[in-house]
Amino acid sequence: MAIPLPSVRTAAFEKLGYGMFIHWSLYSQLGRGEWVRFIEKIPAAEYIKLKDSFTADEFDANAIAKLAKKAGMKYACLTVRHHDGFSLYDTRGLNDFDAVHSPAARDIAAEFANACRNEGIVPFFYHATYDWHQEKFETDFPAYIDYLCNSIEILCKYYGKVGGFWFDGNWSKPQNNWQESRLYGIIRKYQPGAIIINNTGLHARGAVGHDEIDCITFEQGRPEPMNRNGMKKYLAVEMCQSINSHWGISKNDFNYLSPKEIIENLCACRKVGANYLLNIGPTASGKIPDYEASVLCRVGQWVQMYADVIYNGKPYMIAENGIDFAIEANGKIYLFIHNLGVGGHINVTTVIQKTYPKTFERINRKVNKVSWLDNSQELDFVQDKNGSLTFNAAGYPYGTNLVVRVAQVS
Ligand code: GLC
Repeated sequence: MAIPLPSVRTAAFEKLGYGMFIHWSLYSQLGRGEWVRFIEKIPAAEYIKLKDSFTADEFDANAIAKLAKKAGMKYACLTVRHHDGFSLYDTRGLNDFDAVHSPAARDIAAEFANACRNEGIVPFFYHATYDWHQEKFETDFPAYIDYLCNSIEILCKYYGKVGGFWFDGNWSKPQNNWQESRLYGIIRKYQPGAIIINNTGLHARGAVGHDEIDCITFEQGRPEPMNRNGMKKYLAVEMCQSINSHWGISKNDFNYLSPKEIIENLCACRKVGANYLLNIGPTASGKIPDYEASVLCRVGQWVQMYADVIYNGKPYMIAENGIDFAIEANGKIYLFIHNLGVGGHINVTTVIQKTYPKTFERINRKVNKVSWLDNSQELDFVQDKNGSLTFNAAGYPYGTNLVVRVAQVS
């Protein structure tokens, strides 16, 4: 069966590799996650008052774009409207439940898109389809779809070139007629280069949807290798993940990912050719919290070290060894090696091990050299006639622990 080829926009999207997700809206003022209105059953009249204290004082789109760049991310996706129905963009008369009609009196989406493009970061818009604010969502669904389509048309027309639209919420009413062809048609008309994503949610990870969708989603779950045999269209894959247990800021959530976990998750995504969209939740006034900023920068140093392989690498799934795996980039094979110990001294190092034999089956070319990418150290190896490659992966020298270390096979 034939394997479809990626379209130009999908191939470009796959090379973005790693992106920043940003959940920010009125709920950020409460600091109990982005579902707080729904879960705590906050009456609409009370919730919408949060608009009157939405100042965006510390929202600095340039700083966010610069952070994304430093983090080694190539795209960023802002929730320009989440389920609470508040728009971070000027809805141009659709209603006044938006940032320009709040004390902030700014078009946050425009600031975001411009700042991203200035830094070479591709801007994406997350847009909820599931809406708690619009009464017609419950009472007159076709009218709600008109409203949604008009909203998207505004975002397509007045915000410059957008990398993609990330929809979320069709899972809330799976039986309804969402008129997806109409919605996506607007994007194809005004933004033909934009990727279309529609999150299939926690309970249908990896599901394939409407024909116009370019990428499948693995919300909070590691993507599996994709079998594209016989598929109508080449679909990209993306895994989105919150940095702790909530997408919107939560004052009492301490369950943060570490640099180690972020590196491992990024690697697990790239192993199967998936993008990794990692979320942060700015504060009430729009500032990126300190931990998020520093953990992203720290991981960014790792990403810069392996940038070429991370962005341009494609799965080389025939060679695998447990958690360790191979990627092919620019005609070369790279081996991603996990859990190496640090060398040193018995009185200071907990796991001393000088070498770890690692075997990868079915390397389909003759190997002349195996070396670490970070310090060019050459490693002893043997390759048998079936292609099986065994090499001695040295432990880290004292002073180093890269979490995942990459060897180049030439
Ligand atoms: C969801 C949630 C949501 C979050 C999203 C991110 O489906 O409803 O709050 O924005 O996942 O993937």
